[in-house]
This record gives sequence, structure tokens and C-alpha cells, in this order.
Amino acid sequence: MMGPLFKLARPILMSLEPEQAHGLTLAGLKTGLFPKACAAAPSLATTVCGLDFPNPIGIAAGFDKNGEVPDALLRLGCGYAEVGSTTPKPQKGNPTPRIFRLPEADAVINRLGFNNQGHLAMKRNMKDRQGRPGIVGVNLGANKDTEDKAEDYVLGIDAFEGMASYFTINVSSPNTPGLRSLQGRQALQDLVGRVLEARISRVPVFLKIAPDLTADDRQDIADVALESGIDALIISNTTIARQGLVEGAVAQETGGLSGRPLFAMSTQVLSDMRQLTKGKVPLIGVGGISSGADAYTKIRAGASLVQLYTAMIYQGPALIMQIRRDLEKLLARDGFSSVTDAVGADVPV
Ligand SMILES: Cc1cc2nc3c(=O)[nH]c(=O)nc-3n(C[C@H](O)[C@H](O)[C@H](O)COP(=O)(O)O)c2cc1C
Repeated sequence: MMGPLFKLARPILMSLEPEQAHGLTLAGLKTGLFPKACAAAPSLATTVCGLDFPNPIGIAAGFDKNGEVPDALLRLGCGYAEVGSTTPKPQKGNPTPRIFRLPEADAVINRLGFNNQGHLAMKRNMKDRQGRPGIVGVNLGANKDTEDKAEDYVLGIDAFEGMASYFTINVSSPNTPGLRSLQGRQALQDLVGRVLEARISRVPVFLKIAPDLTADDRQDIADVALESGIDALIISNTTIARQGLVEGAVAQETGGLSGRPLFAMSTQVLSDMRQLTKGKVPLIGVGGISSGADAYTKIRAGASLVQLYTAMIYQGPALIMQIRRDLEKLLARDGFSSVTDAVGADVPV
């Protein structure tokens, strides 16, 4: 149903500016006029950080920046949705154009710069869905003009306690000056310490990291993750590198690259972090997933859960069910009765 519908809509969406197309997609999802996905196969169910996921496939942050359609995303068959990044104050973001499609590479470059309606608007949306089933995480960002960036994350914890199934501290978007420096050892220790202290309940807090990290950066993050009590790492955000892209005007646009060219790079960081954390910190694999085989590769590299965004732009919402079906088959082929058993199969620790 979703497949043929998207085939019809795709040429229209692709003829529009990326942000217009996205707005139309959100409007379509808001109507709720599509069938609810069937329950996932039992082999896909998994428990991570005390949360019971019906399947390990989630929608990555940035798709639903203001928490307008998390339940529609769950209806498509996702195991969970991550909304945000949300910042305390509303923010316009960078001047347009700021999203660039690279269809021949199944990729996108964006320099949105945390355009979002702020905590208040997100709070209204999250309040509306309170009491509904389904795992919805809130991804927290910091305003561009905030001096003490860590404080913005603390404000996020305060704002969404009791509404978020989990929190993500996003210190890895390349489009907010200074944000990524929060990944350094000292800054990260302080940030994570303050955020975890701000928590009243035991709601899990995840840290989302960049793929553009030196070996020292990776070691520092692994050490902080092991020492601080952070619940999981999300690996990764978009890259500022242009590896795997054919040179061209669009490829030179400033911003974060996502989609297929990010796959190998982010999977490498994922397996490195599994080794560095000795498998003791749950990992969430993101970056360039466009098939069940890709999701399975991330899982075997150490991901307990996965997320995707860019491939949905090109393949549409039916991709979620396709990945679920293929992942189920791949697990059965290799004799795994549960997705949990396949986690890290290629990266022994
Ligand atoms: C247009 C766009 C906006 C994004 N906005 C955010 C964001 O607000 N917060 C965040 O943590 N990641 C954001 N991301 C990064 C994605 O969540 C994801 O980490 C990245 O795109 C890699 O996954 P993919 O290759 O499946 O897209 C954004 C990505 C895109 C393409």
C-alpha cells in the first residue's frame, strides 16, 4: 500500500525543494490515512536499557524535529521514533537553501542548524501523546547563541521528564558552531555529569556522536561512556567528510553528509566503539542504512538498535517494512532466534 503510493508521489516530491517536500511528507503523515503496520516478528523484539522494542528499527532525529508525527512513524512499523533535535528557544536555523539532495549517491547534505520550534512546542506535542504506547525518544540540542551549552541539555531533561521514553544528548551536529567540541574528554565529562544529575527518574540517556573522530577522541568518549553511567551511544551523526562522493558542485556544499556514503565510515566507528567499550555500553547504529542487509551489518558490528533517515527520502516509508522482513530472514538464515543474539557477532570482545 505505502510502496505504490510513494511511487506515485515520488516524482512530485523530488521536483520540490527538499524542505517543501519534507513539509508535504509530514502533512501526509499527520492525516493518519494509511494502514497500521502488522506486528513485527518475535525474533525482532529486543530489550535495550530496560525498554522493550518491538523491533530494532527507529527513525533518526531530524525527520520529526518538533514531535509532530511520532505516532504516525510508529504506525509505519518502526520499533521506535526519535524526535528533535529540540532547543530551549525556537530557532530559525541557517539561511536557505540548506538541504541538498545527491540522488546519484543516495545521499543528502544538510546545514539546517537546528531549525526547530523550541521546547514549548515540542512539549505540547509530547503532552498530547502521553499515555499512548510506543517508544519515543527526545533528542536534545543547544541554541546557537547559548554560552553555556551544557545548560541547554539540562533544560531539556527538565522539560521532557515523564514524556520521553529516553533522551539523546546530541553533541555531534556539524551545523552549530562549537557543539562538537563538547565531545572532548573534559567537556563531555562535565556535560554528562550535569545531565545525569538533572534526571529525576531513571529514564535512559543516550549520547549521539560524530563519525569524524580521531582515535584519541574515540578513546576519550569510550572512557567517559564507561565511567559516567551514560546508557548508550548513538553512532553516528552526519559527516563533514566527503569520502565516497563524486566531486561536484553539490558535494562541495557545507554541511553534514548522510546516506549511503556514510555507511562504511559510521559502521567502522561503531565497531571501534564496541571494542573500546568492551561491549559494555549498548550501541545504536545509524548512517547510510538503506536495506535489511545494511541494518544486519550494523547489528553484527555491535548495534543493539538501528536508525535511519536519508534512505526514507529516496525509498519512502515502505522501506521500514522491507527492512523488517529482510532482517527477519537474515537472522533465520544465520541461525539467530533473536536479534539480540546477533549483536556484535562480527566484533568479538
Ligand atoms: C535533513 C536532516 C536533518 C537532521 N537533523 C538532525 C537533528 O536535528 N539532530 C540529530 O541528532 N541528527 C540529525 N540528523 C542526522 C540523522 O539523525 C542521522 O544521524 C544521519 O542522517 C545519518 O543517518 P542516515 O544516513 O540514515 O540519514 C539529520 C539528518 C538529516 C538528513
